[in-house]
Formats: sequence, C-alpha cells, structure tokens
Amino acid sequence: MKAQKIIIDGDPGQDDAVNLLLAMASGDELDILGITAVAGNVPLALTERNTRIICELAGRKDIKVYAGCDRPLERALVTAENVHGNTGIDGMDLFEPQNPVQTQHAVDYIIETLRTEPPDTVTLVPTGPLTNIASAFLKAPDIIKNVQQIVLMGGAMREGGNRTPSAEFNIYVDPQAAQIVFDCARPLTVIGLDLTHTVLATPARIEAIRATGTRAAIATAGMLEFFNRHDTEKYGSKGGPLHDPCTVAWLLKPALFKGKLCNISIETHSELTIGHTAVDFWGVTRRTKNANWLYEVDAKGFYALLTERLARL
Ligand code: RIB
Ligand code: CA
Repeated sequence: MKAQKIIIDGDPGQDDAVNLLLAMASGDELDILGITAVAGNVPLALTERNTRIICELAGRKDIKVYAGCDRPLERALVTAENVHGNTGIDGMDLFEPQNPVQTQHAVDYIIETLRTEPPDTVTLVPTGPLTNIASAFLKAPDIIKNVQQIVLMGGAMREGGNRTPSAEFNIYVDPQAAQIVFDCARPLTVIGLDLTHTVLATPARIEAIRATGTRAAIATAGMLEFFNRHDTEKYGSKGGPLHDPCTVAWLLKPALFKGKLCNISIETHSELTIGHTAVDFWGVTRRTKNANWLYEVDAKGFYALLTERLARL
C-alpha cells in the first residue's frame, strides 16, 4: 500500500516528540513531507529546535523542519513549562541539532505543499495549538479543498479541561484558530483528553520501552519519566497521559480506536469557558457533524505498537 503523505505540526513537548518518533519509525506507512513547529508548550524558538533534535535522534536529518507562528491569532501566548520543563523536552540528554531550520515560514510551506501535491493526498497531523494550520487556511483558502484529512490532538468532553476547568491546552491557547480548523469542512478526526487520559505511561510501560535499548527508546523513557511527574501528582494516576502519539497511532492502526461522528463547536468568547470543545456526542443539536470524535482506545495495543516501532529507530 502506498505510504500516506503527512505534514506533522506540533509544539514539542515530550508527547509531541514521541509522536514524531513513532511517525519516523513507520516509513513504510507514512511519508513525512515536512514537520512544522508552532508556539505552545514552550516558545517557538524551542519547539522548532526540539523538532530538529528529535529528527536527528531518529537519524532523519533529511526531514525538513519549518518554524511557524510564534503566537496565537488573537490571544497572547500561553505556555506550559510547568508540565514540560523549561526546554519543553526535559528528561532526555539534549544536544545542539546540526540540521538547520528551513528559511521558509511554516505557513507558506503548508500552503505551497497543498498547492503542489495532488489534491486529496495530504493528511495534516496537528498536535499543538492550531495557529499554523488556521493561518494557512486564512492566507490561502484555496488549499482547504486539497486537504485529504486532519487528525488532531485537542479538546475534551466528559474529562473536563486540563488548562482551565473547561478547556484542553491546545484549543485553549488558540481558540480562534481551532474554530477555523473545526469549521473547514474537511474530514476531521479529533483525539481529546477523554481518550488520551486512558493511555497512561506507567513505569512498566516505560521500562518496556527502555528495554528495547535503542537511543530513541532510551530518550523516550527519560522524557516520559519527566513528563509523568506533573500529571501523576495532579491526577493521582499511575502514569502521565501520552496525548499526541495517539494521532499517528490512529493513522497506523485505526482498529485500536473507537470514534463517533458528531458536531464539535468551540467557545471563542466567554472568558470563563474559552477554548471549550462542545462535543455533541448524543446529537441533541442539528449542528453539522464535523468531526470523528475518538473516545476509546486499546491502551495495551497502543503501547505494543509504540514499543515495537521505537525499537526500529
Ligand atoms: O493537552 C495536551 C496537549 O497540549 C498535548 O498536545 C501537549 O503536548 C500540549 O500541546
Ligand atoms: Ca502538543
């Protein structure tokens, strides 16, 4: 089967980093056209540098990395060093990346790629605030029809928010961008906290990853041990939720997941609930069913896939 063309957009962040490693270890199924960085967990200067570090860690200095937007469309940037550490990928042995960041802006790269690749052949995989994707759609609306599908990590339903009581971080940081993406009318798969909070990086799972012995796996184990400390204390859970790699895992093995087509609308006005994702799971409105809301996953199968792929790097 022909490899799926993808652009991954994110804000590494340990979980974004693991998502990149999972994708780079899956070259038979995924053709990574490029990776774009956005401000989110940490400022843009760090998310783009971290992206280049992870590409080098995976031996993929060939993959081009593009720096995108350094702040949301309208709101001030909100970051999450309290979760991810000051570098954004605390927990691994950092090094200065050799591969340079591209001079082309990420938004222009996304536009150019969607204009030159055949229509309906490129999947967008955003795992941070949706500022880059929305900016590309605003600057060049003609590209929207060319997007094959979008698979994103963001939002929450019954789980409640992780940045406010109502909002998940990626959507909270740039709700205006999220509204643009959720209203784009292209096939949209959304993975929120209700699902990601069931894929916990427990010590046993981290040890299984470390035991594969590859440089990327050992770095992943270190990052996950750091990433765990905040959420295990906050939720009293046995491990931190591995949010972003659920996007690439769904592309690789959709049978591990359960989803439901429903309307998801974004709160963009109320300061109390801004960034809230109103997931109409039971169809109580007549709003357009714009998203495949993934709500369940085989966590054991997810970690088996992740561990097997990290062993390849
Ligand atoms: O709420 C979790 C999401 O916010 C993840 O993508 C994490 O990396 C942060 O970006
Ligand atoms: Ca992220």
